[in-house]
Amino acid sequence: MNSKSLFIRNANELITVKGHSEKPATKEAMNDLHIIKGGSVWIENGEIVAVGTDEELVAKYEERLEDAEVIDATGQVVAPGFVDPHTHLVYAGSRENEFNMRLQGKSYMEIMNAGGGIHATTSATREATPEQLFTESKARLDKFLLHGVTTIEAKSGYGLSLEHEMKQLEVAKQLNEAHCIDIVRTFMGAHAVPASFKGDPEAFVDLVIEEMIPKVAERKLAEFNDVFCEHGVFTPEQSKRILEAGLKHGLLPKIHADEIEPYRGAELAAEVGAVSADHLLKASDEGMQKMAEHGVIGVLLPGTAFFLMAESANGRKMIDTGVPVALSTDCNPGSSPSVSLPLIMNLGCLKMGMTPAEVITATTINAAHAINRANEVGSIEVGKKADLVVLNVPNYMQLQYHYGVNHTSKVIKGGKLVV
Ligand code: NIG
Ligand code: FE
Repeated sequence: MNSKSLFIRNANELITVKGHSEKPATKEAMNDLHIIKGGSVWIENGEIVAVGTDEELVAKYEERLEDAEVIDATGQVVAPGFVDPHTHLVYAGSRENEFNMRLQGKSYMEIMNAGGGIHATTSATREATPEQLFTESKARLDKFLLHGVTTIEAKSGYGLSLEHEMKQLEVAKQLNEAHCIDIVRTFMGAHAVPASFKGDPEAFVDLVIEEMIPKVAERKLAEFNDVFCEHGVFTPEQSKRILEAGLKHGLLPKIHADEIEPYRGAELAAEVGAVSADHLLKASDEGMQKMAEHGVIGVLLPGTAFFLMAESANGRKMIDTGVPVALSTDCNPGSSPSVSLPLIMNLGCLKMGMTPAEVITATTINAAHAINRANEVGSIEVGKKADLVVLNVPNYMQLQYHYGVNHTSKVIKGGKLVV
């Protein structure tokens, strides 16, 4: 039996972001939102079946109007459900004590090298049962949804052993089944060298390559493989070995690159054919150029720079260089404990010089490309999943102008009204 049709009517601006499902948008095309004034969407069985002006769709579906569920979006903006392509969703505990230490002058790396940071969350996550992890992470997912996010990526990386990395990924898998938000999983065993391998990081790299990657791939627990390539964490050589090993097992490369110091991470991303390079606060001009040439998506995380009190990545320059840019929260307990993708968009404008239109492209279709879901979500086009957000503003520019506000008024996931 077919479920009832859903008709979203007469948005002041229906932001379709159409035309970029094959390839991410770059340069000027990032400003191309393909807005329909007085736009409507007809949805059947969780899928978008027609997009047009209200008059067009009323004429087309005249005989079925009475039986459809209707959402009146008059005066509001309707956009594709937001996609967050970089989160560390599944973890236990919190680190407000470290936040306090940083406010008093300690650096993120000093705290990590003294056994805090990622190591502190690793201890908490190892101790947590899968049920505890599920409950804590589900609470975060619920909040993501209230901010209009309908698809996210989730990384492991707080287990740092086969058993506990798999535990994190299994929980992400269960959450995907239990929660309406779709979750794409990334293995990040190379997030830090655990304390037990402190004197011998190469042995840990071997363990990631020989034991963890094959098992994670065999059990289909992840689609991507990420590594924290940073001075004092994993070198570019180690990162390359890890990413190439992942590729052999079908895991696509992503990389935490040039976050704290310049380390040629952007260059490495282009060299290994990474789907995305993320952070990029200290990326070189040459690295940006290479990313543009190889179509590596720059996933920028201005909330992390904000929270670490660092200067943001140069989003403006990256877009002008031709890098396809996406934005994300980087939701994690240390460097960005936030689920607010709307705030990240504000920071994209205010801290990175992106336009209000570019930040929408960066959190919809380009974000979907960064997790290989652009064929399903990220734009309002016939045949795509009916993931949409209704925003309580008369035009999309007000989303950034009235900053610091969650303008989400309704969320439609897979054709169902969920918020
Ligand atoms: O993307 N930089 C490395 N990883 C995370 C932070 C992890 C943590 O501090 O717990 C990030 O910022
Ligand atoms: Fe991250």
